[in-house]
Amino acid sequence: MGGKVLEGKVALVTGAGRGIGREIALRLARDGATVIVHYAQSRAGAEEVVAEIAAMGGTAVAYQADIARREEVKALFARIDAHPGRLDIVVNNAGVSAGGALADVTDEDIAAIFGINVFGPLYVASEAASRLADNGRVVNFSSTVATHPLAGAGLYSAAKKAVESFTESWARELGARGITVNTVVPGATSPGMADRTPEYHGYFANASPFKRIGRAEEIVAVVAFLVSPEASWVSGTHILANGAGNT
Ligand SMILES: NC(=O)c1ccc[n+]([C@@H]2O[C@H](COP(=O)([O-])OP(=O)(O)OC[C@H]3O[C@@H](n4cnc5c(N)ncnc54)[C@H](OP(=O)(O)O)[C@@H]3O)[C@@H](O)[C@H]2O)c1
Repeated sequence: MGGKVLEGKVALVTGAGRGIGREIALRLARDGATVIVHYAQSRAGAEEVVAEIAAMGGTAVAYQADIARREEVKALFARIDAHPGRLDIVVNNAGVSAGGALADVTDEDIAAIFGINVFGPLYVASEAASRLADNGRVVNFSSTVATHPLAGAGLYSAAKKAVESFTESWARELGARGITVNTVVPGATSPGMADRTPEYHGYFANASPFKRIGRAEEIVAVVAFLVSPEASWVSGTHILANGAGNT
């Protein structure tokens, strides 16, 4: 028995070149997992994460794919099959947010928000389903705005609600093999997509009784628990990590 909780496990973290995904990849490596550091555009960031993991004595590879494109997700999994040739944990972290008035919604907005936030995790989970080892783990990412929608963010809210719905279904489908599927539901978090303007930070900080936004490590802690062997009886649920915020 290795000393670390994820010793011998292989974890895929999507969108791990920056933001919350970067911190998840580093944490799972510290917990002993071999990490597949997935990225779309952030090649330098992903390579930096791989180097940091190697420096701490861990193992990681950086693989690229646009998760909104099914053929690219298939190619990603072909690379995973070749090396490291095993999969225990999938963290569907990659996502994008965009807002704007309903009257101004473009085809590009719809394609990006649903392509990356809904089809992306669906394609990844679909490829992962037959490859995940028994007692594997899937963690999906929703957002507080899925249940507390904001004006101008309807597409993003709907996409994240779809992820929660998938989660409940996949948990029932994969449970027979001991595989758990859950959603983490952050509020505004930094580093990450909440890093826009000080006003934006201030707005969301005000929505929490803690009067601040979340730190990526506070989201990572929830992911680390959900992917651990200890979380074997937690499945099909959505865990809020938003400092009791309501936006
Ligand atoms: N931070 C928050 O305030 C907050 C709040 C609620 C929920 N969330 C959720 O938490 C998750 C992580 O968010 P974050 O804050 O870390 O976001 P972020 O800093 O904006 O990073 C977004 C990540 O998604 C990846 N990505 C974007 N388009 C992609 C594509 N077509 N194919 C593959 N990957 C793609 C990016 O990869 P590249 O850089 O390599 O392109 C990047 O790693 C998301 O699901 C988000 O919806 C975040």
